Amino acid sequence: MSFEIDRVPTGVDELDRILNGGFPRGSITLIAGGPGTGKTLTALQFLYNGAVKYSEKGMLVIFNESAQTLKQFTKTMGWDFDRLEGEDKVKILDFMVVERSGLESMMDMIFEKAISFSPQRLVIDSLTALTMSLERKDEIRVVLSIIHRLLRKLGCTSIVISETPWGVDSLGSGVEEFVVDGIIKLELLPVKGELKRRLAVVKMRGVGHEMKFYQYSIVPKDGIVITPYPEVF
Ligand SMILES: Nc1ncnc2c1ncn2[C@@H]1O[C@H](COP(=O)(O)OP(=O)(O)O)[C@@H](O)[C@H]1O
Ligand SMILES: [Mg+2]
Repeated sequence: MSFEIDRVPTGVDELDRILNGGFPRGSITLIAGGPGTGKTLTALQFLYNGAVKYSEKGMLVIFNESAQTLKQFTKTMGWDFDRLEGEDKVKILDFMVVERSGLESMMDMIFEKAISFSPQRLVIDSLTALTMSLERKDEIRVVLSIIHRLLRKLGCTSIVISETPWGVDSLGSGVEEFVVDGIIKLELLPVKGELKRRLAVVKMRGVGHEMKFYQYSIVPKDGIVITPYPEVF
């Protein structure tokens, strides 16, 4: 009998190596970081590689941003999401306005669309935007736990994104960090008058993963490119 966990490769070679093969199938991973760290890009690369390299369908749910703007952005990377949508390999749901009163019906709609599309990979960008109309922590907790339950029911391998303000060293709202299976932290750090990108896998349930810091860059076509983090930083 084998206790090997089935892995879902991200398609980013170095990241898959750090994760010992990829995300555990059916897991939920939080990507946390400040503005411009490449959270959206990392999640899109996961979906793009899923569709192109591994024949896995992907669904992207974005808030406060249009699918059109996002597709323009991915074209600069050489990733054609219009084509993938046309081929029914990717589905993008965008919600430009997230109102407190409409949260429940919005979540029902996301669930229905996901059931009928039945993706293997799912991304929510971001939990921060989704819960922005909520002021009280207990309300945020309820919405996040509903999302968590929906993702578990769908059974796809998911990435959820949390946006932390510039200069703030946190991972999320203080709720999602504890219910997700994995956490990847992305940072922009000033080093000798320059901003350097730094990545670490903070948590990954059921997986032996490396605990080192890595430096990464964002390169057209290749996306996230990871190298060892120099000791001198
Ligand atoms: N074509 C490109 N070539 C190189 N870097 C890019 C390109 N497009 C975007 N980037 C980098 O990616 C960053 C945006 O990444 P994004 O995933 O939107 O960040 P986040 O979602 O964390 O705010 C930009 O600030 C820029 O540094
Ligand atoms: Mg983003």
